[in-house]
Amino acid sequence: MDLQLILDQINSELRPLLGTSGGKVASYIPALARVSPLQFGIALRTCEGEVAQAGDSAVPFSIQSMSKMFSLTLAIRSLDEALWDRIGREPSGSPFNSLVQLETERGIPRNPFINAGAIAVADRLVSLGDANVELLALLGRLCGEPIRIDAEVAQSEADTGFRNTALANFMKGFGTLDNDVATVLDVYFQQCAIAMTCEQVACAAGYLCRDGRHPLAGVPVLSSAQTRRVNALMLTCGTYDAAGEFAFRIGLPCKSGVGGGIVAVVPDRLTLCVWSPALDATGNSLLGRQALELFVAKTGLSVF
Ligand code: DON
Repeated sequence: MDLQLILDQINSELRPLLGTSGGKVASYIPALARVSPLQFGIALRTCEGEVAQAGDSAVPFSIQSMSKMFSLTLAIRSLDEALWDRIGREPSGSPFNSLVQLETERGIPRNPFINAGAIAVADRLVSLGDANVELLALLGRLCGEPIRIDAEVAQSEADTGFRNTALANFMKGFGTLDNDVATVLDVYFQQCAIAMTCEQVACAAGYLCRDGRHPLAGVPVLSSAQTRRVNALMLTCGTYDAAGEFAFRIGLPCKSGVGGGIVAVVPDRLTLCVWSPALDATGNSLLGRQALELFVAKTGLSVF
């Protein structure tokens, strides 16, 4: 299969739709509202190390909630089963920043990929040490290049993170968080503001298609059982209240972010990252989703 040709075809089919797709860049974080929607990039890396890319695949973008996959990885590495004492594993069926379930479910977030769940994961990482130093070090090792936080985006999130502050305070009131709310939120906002390219994300996520083995060095990042679990959570919860639709139309574990990125895993084959900043109503990249649908249609690669 000529993967480079397939990515080139997807880029040629979707690029003419930039600006006309009807999607909108995330506006509730001012620094993201300034990003041009007229960008589309796609990159993949196979288990054998073959790479392919097209469009704006080398442009850094805000990975936002895609960081939740990597922070979960760090937390599972250290805590394994104990992580699940305070975080659920069920799809929420609600928007990623929803407060409603927390009230009836006694401050336990439905899963680690909604905002409340990732804030609870950040709290566990704060208890374990210097959370974001660890996270940047992990990402740097996974893609073999230094990775940085975009300070302007992090500040913009902190300035406007009213709903996240509410979620964190609510969980603190229920005893879900051990650490100071401001410290945990600072870690969370900085994680969301990590900037990476499609090429870097496709490489960094490589352990998820290789039973947990490091994409470059081959050493274990997670055990194969832990890797299956991260993939299962991505499939069921990685795209929020659109997870059912993603499973139906694409059939791959995916994790999205409001920066417009989506990473997808084809177990035992490859990892793929697509980015286009204009989002649909569920906060998922509109052209990103179409690109993944085209990729699956052209390659037949799906877990089903
Ligand atoms: O906390 C927030 O709302 C953002 N920093 C991240 C949200 C996000 O990416 C959800 N994605 N679809």
